Amino acid sequence: MKKLLPAALLLVALTAQADSYSLPKHAAFEEECSSCHMAYPPQMLHADSWRAMMGDLSHHFGSDASIDDKRRVAITNFLLANAGGRKTGDTRDAQGKPLLRITQTARFDKKHREVPAATWQRASIKSPANCGACHTRAAAGEYSERWVQIPK
Ligand code: HEC
Ligand code: HEC
Repeated sequence: MKKLLPAALLLVALTAQADSYSLPKHAAFEEECSSCHMAYPPQMLHADSWRAMMGDLSHHFGSDASIDDKRRVAITNFLLANAGGRKTGDTRDAQGKPLLRITQTARFDKKHREVPAATWQRASIKSPANCGACHTRAAAGEYSERWVQIPK
């Protein structure tokens, strides 16, 4: 029994880490992609989703988020280099088209199944894309249950 303990502790430690994202640094990304909303972790979408989004910034979810070409290419390369990963799951729709929203991915659905539809509409939340409203440490890349607090 005693011999099992270290393995059990390791498992607990790994579980606690399971929904933390490292936030790779990139000055232009932080400047250009965090003025209207938080800078989403690049790992949350696969490369083809980022490529599609970065290819049409003037029609960005009803906003004009266009930037000069040099910065656009630099940010695209940064996103592609850090895209996707083990936990990301599929980020395409049923027709195989890359999804542009993290909030439309199967993984997002699965993780938020318990959130009632009306909750997303609260004035304190406004949109599922407003991660920081409920994930109090989203800015640090921390999404684990421990740091979730749904506002009234
Ligand atoms: C001019 C404002 C503006 C800028 C600048 C901007 N965005 Fe957005 N972005 C939006 C809006 C508005 C939405 C939709 C938010 C919503 O549905 O609540 C959005 C949504 C997103 C989403 C999808 C969120 C979801 O629903 O999963 C991603 C990913 C995203 N932006 C990435 C970026 C990246 C990368 C950049 C930098 C190149 C950027 N944004 C710059 C306004 C902006
Ligand atoms: C209405 C509040 C709310 C908003 C807004 C929200 N979430 Fe969540 N999120 C939750 C709740 C509640 C859970 C489930 C916590 C649990 O029981 O593990 C969760 C779980 C998660 C998990 C899994 C955590 C784990 O330990 O398995 C991830 C990852 C996550 N959310 C990412 C996001 C991202 C990214 C955004 C923004 C694009 C977002 N969430 C927006 C409430 C929210």
